[in-house]
Amino acid sequence: MTTIEQALDDLTQLKADAALGGGQERVEAQHARGKMTARERIATLVDPGTFEEIDALAADWDDEDGERFYGDAVVTGWGKIDGRTACVFAQDFTVYGGSLGEVVGMKIAKLMDVALKSGVPIVGLNDSGGARIQEGVSSLGGYGEIFFRNVQASGVIPQISVILGPCAGGAVYSPALTDFIFMVEKTSQMFLTGPDVILSVTGEQTTVEELGGAASHVSKSGVAHFAFKDEQECLEEVRRLLSYLPQNNMDDAPYQDTGDPIDRRLDDIMTIVPGASDKQYDVRDVIERLVDNGELMEVHEYFAPNIVCGLGRIGGAPVGIVANQPLYLGGVLDIDSSRKAARFVRFCDSFNIPIVTLVDVPGFLPGVSQEYGGIIAHGAKLVYAYAAATVPKVTVILRKAFGGAYDAMGSKHLGADVNYAWPTAAIAVMAGSQAVNIVSRREIASAADPDAERKRLIEEYAQRLEHPYIAAAKGYIDDVIDPRDTRLKIAHALEMLRTKSVQVPGKKHGNIPL
Ligand code: HXC
Repeated sequence: MTTIEQALDDLTQLKADAALGGGQERVEAQHARGKMTARERIATLVDPGTFEEIDALAADWDDEDGERFYGDAVVTGWGKIDGRTACVFAQDFTVYGGSLGEVVGMKIAKLMDVALKSGVPIVGLNDSGGARIQEGVSSLGGYGEIFFRNVQASGVIPQISVILGPCAGGAVYSPALTDFIFMVEKTSQMFLTGPDVILSVTGEQTTVEELGGAASHVSKSGVAHFAFKDEQECLEEVRRLLSYLPQNNMDDAPYQDTGDPIDRRLDDIMTIVPGASDKQYDVRDVIERLVDNGELMEVHEYFAPNIVCGLGRIGGAPVGIVANQPLYLGGVLDIDSSRKAARFVRFCDSFNIPIVTLVDVPGFLPGVSQEYGGIIAHGAKLVYAYAAATVPKVTVILRKAFGGAYDAMGSKHLGADVNYAWPTAAIAVMAGSQAVNIVSRREIASAADPDAERKRLIEEYAQRLEHPYIAAAKGYIDDVIDPRDTRLKIAHALEMLRTKSVQVPGKKHGNIPL
C-alpha cells in the first residue's frame, strides 16, 4: 500500500518532470536561440511567488504508446502583476514545438473561461508551431474554441498577446482577436502562410523575418502594436501596459498618485507649436508636457505615425490620447491613421478610459489610391468610434481643424463632452489657399495682378473664417483657452466627467463599417 509520504514523493517527481517540459536538451536549444522557457517567461511577467499553475498534470491519457508530457505544450494559471490578478498562459516550444492539440486547446480555453468569469485580464505568451499535425481536427477544434472565447471576452476583459516565437497559419487569428499584440525583434514571427508557400503560389521571394517579423508588423501591416529588442523588455512593457488598464469593463481604470500637480502650467508650450499652420512640430512634445511626469505609452508607434495614440495619466487617472502628428504627412488623416485611431478609441471606450483628443489636422488625404483603398469606409470607422464612445471625451484644437477631419476628430457634434480651442486654432472647411481657388476663381482670373489678388483673398479668408471664434459663438467650442492652461483645463473637465453616464439606444450591436 502506498503511504502518504510515498504518494507525495511521486507527486513531487511528477511535477518536476512536468516542469521540465520537453526535456533538458530542448530547454538548452531554446536558450541557445536567446529564448526563455515558458516557465521562465511567466516568472518574468508575474510578481515573484504569485503564480498558481493549473492543469500541470493534464495529458493525453489515452495515448499509451506515445511519450507522455504532463502539462503538454502550454503552462496555464494565474498570478499577480503589480499586485493585481491576471491569467497567463505560455506555450512551451520544448514540447512538440509548442503545437496545439486537444490538451493544449482544452487548457487555454479553460483558462480563458476562468479569466472571463473572474473578470481579470488574460495574457497569452505565444511560441508555437501551430496546429499539432498528428492530432488533425482536434487541433483545429481547439483553435476554434479559443477564437470563440476571444470574441466573448472582447470588451469584457483586456486580452494581450505576446509573440515570442513562431505564430503561423490560422493560429494567428487568436492574437489578432485580442486587444494588443507585442512582438520581439528577430525572435518572433507571425504569418498566415510562410515564405515557401508564397513562393509556390505567387512567385514572390521573401524571408520569415521580412514577411512576419516584428519590424514588418509594427510598421507595415499594423498587425502588432509593440516591438521590443528582447523578451525581458517586452514582458516588462506588458506589465506597464496593464498598469493603465482596469481589470474588466465594469472596473475603473487604476488611479496612481503620480505626484504631478494638475495645475502645472505649460509655460513653454507656445514655443513648441508654430503659428504658421504649415510648419512642422512634434505633437509628442505637447503630449509630454500635458500628461503626468511626461509619461506616454505609445501604441502603434511605428504604424501610421501621422497620428499618435497612447496611454498616459492626467491627475493620476489613465487617459487615452489621440493626437494628429504634423511631423508626418502634415498630420493628415489617411486610411491607416483612421484605422489606427478608430481601434484605439474603441479600446479606450471598452475599458472606461477617457479620451483626450489634440487636433491639428489639414483634412483627409486626397488621392486615387486612398479612394480606391476605401478611405471613405476607413475614415467612417473613426467617425463611428468617436460617436459611439460613451467614456468622457475632451478635445482641444491646437491649430487647424479643416473639413471632415474637424468633425471626425472628437468634435462636439460627435458627442464630445468638453471642447476647447487655443486662440491660434483655425476651424474651417478648408485652408484659405485652397478655398479661394474654388470660391473666387473668376475674381482672381480677371484681376490685373492675379497673384496679388489671390494673396489678398487668402488674407481676407483667414481674417473672416480661420479662427476659433465662430465655433465658440455657436457653442461648438466651450471656450478658447490660454495654451498654458491646457493641462489644468483638461484635468478639471475629466474630474467633472468622472460621474458621466449616458444611455444608448437599445440594440443588439451597431454595424461599424469594418
Ligand atoms: C507537431 C510540431 C509542429 C506541429 C513543430 N513540431 N511544429 N509537432 N505539430 N505543428 C515539433 C517538431 O517535430 C520538433 O519535434 C519540434 O516541434 C521543434 O520543431 P523544429 O522544426 O525542430 O523547430 P524549428 O527548426 O525551430 O522550426 C520551428 C517551426 C517548424 C518553424 C515552427 O517546426 C515548422 O514549420 N512547423 C510546422 C508549422 C506548421 O506548418 N504548422 C501548421 C500551421 S497551420 P522534436 O521532437 O524534434 O523536438 C495551422 C492551422 C491552424 O496552424 C488552424 C487554426 C484555425
